[in-house]
Amino acid sequence: MSMPILIDTDMGVDDAMAVGLALASPEIRLVGLASVGGNVSLDQATINMPRVLEAFRAGTQLPMARGLDQSAHLMNAADVHGDDGLGHVDLPAPDAFAPDELIPFYERAIAEHGRSLAIVAIGPLTNLAYLLRERPGLLEQAGRVVVMGGAIWCKGNVTPYAEFNFYRDPVAARDLLVSGLPISVVSLDVTQQVAIDESHVARMSRSASRIGGQLARMLQWPMAQPSEDGVGRFLVHDPLALGTLIWPQLFLQSRMGLDITTSGPQAGRSKPVLVKDKKRQVSVVISVNAADFLENLLERLCNESFVV
Ligand code: RIB
Ligand code: CA
Repeated sequence: MSMPILIDTDMGVDDAMAVGLALASPEIRLVGLASVGGNVSLDQATINMPRVLEAFRAGTQLPMARGLDQSAHLMNAADVHGDDGLGHVDLPAPDAFAPDELIPFYERAIAEHGRSLAIVAIGPLTNLAYLLRERPGLLEQAGRVVVMGGAIWCKGNVTPYAEFNFYRDPVAARDLLVSGLPISVVSLDVTQQVAIDESHVARMSRSASRIGGQLARMLQWPMAQPSEDGVGRFLVHDPLALGTLIWPQLFLQSRMGLDITTSGPQAGRSKPVLVKDKKRQVSVVISVNAADFLENLLERLCNESFVV
């Protein structure tokens, strides 16, 4: 029985890769996409949803909602993903695209799927924090929440303290992480252990997979940009977060509290804290079998058969 998932995304290239992985994985049934401002503007993240689905030939009947962009730091990550968020690749947008409103979209998905629904948040947590405020009790009716965000023991990728998604809306991150929801946090500490390089992009480009081929196109520009991980390497933060649902055997998790700094020079910082109250604890991914995850990811995106 495949797991229904809803992806809340700021639709950059690694977000698109996570969507491609979801579509290519029989363990997963993608039931909706919601946009949030982050890597690119909210408008751009919103139109990127059908652009990516069209590129993957997944149709655009999937429920999609326009979320929010209420961030303390209105910065984006165009230097990583390109101004359009998808590597400046010419991906046509549908003529008429009318996304759903955020609250009814989540209400419908949770009413239909209930506790079997996993919410995968791979952008700033602005939408989920809004739902906590405006519809108390709604997210509790879903199943688990996977969050890509934070830099717990490692340096951040925006400031020395903060990872982009938590930096972009630190108050939202704080509100989610103290909410008592069943949250699993996939932070930079593990996502920065898995990067693809040109050989992987060439493999995707050569593959018979539509998803692999389109992602190879989206990766050209980001891979050519100098980044802290070096030219010719691209970190797969968001697919790795989704991978914890597909291949849980490749990850170790531990429970702890996470304190989020919400203002000042350390805004967005995520510090581990000892808390006895189980409602204040979240599950934090503390290790990944990086080699096996990368091989599984590539075999899925290239539509090859064997999975480790
Ligand atoms: O810090 C990495 C995260 O920020 C990823 O989700 C990336 O897509 C950006 O949203
Ligand atoms: Ca993202």
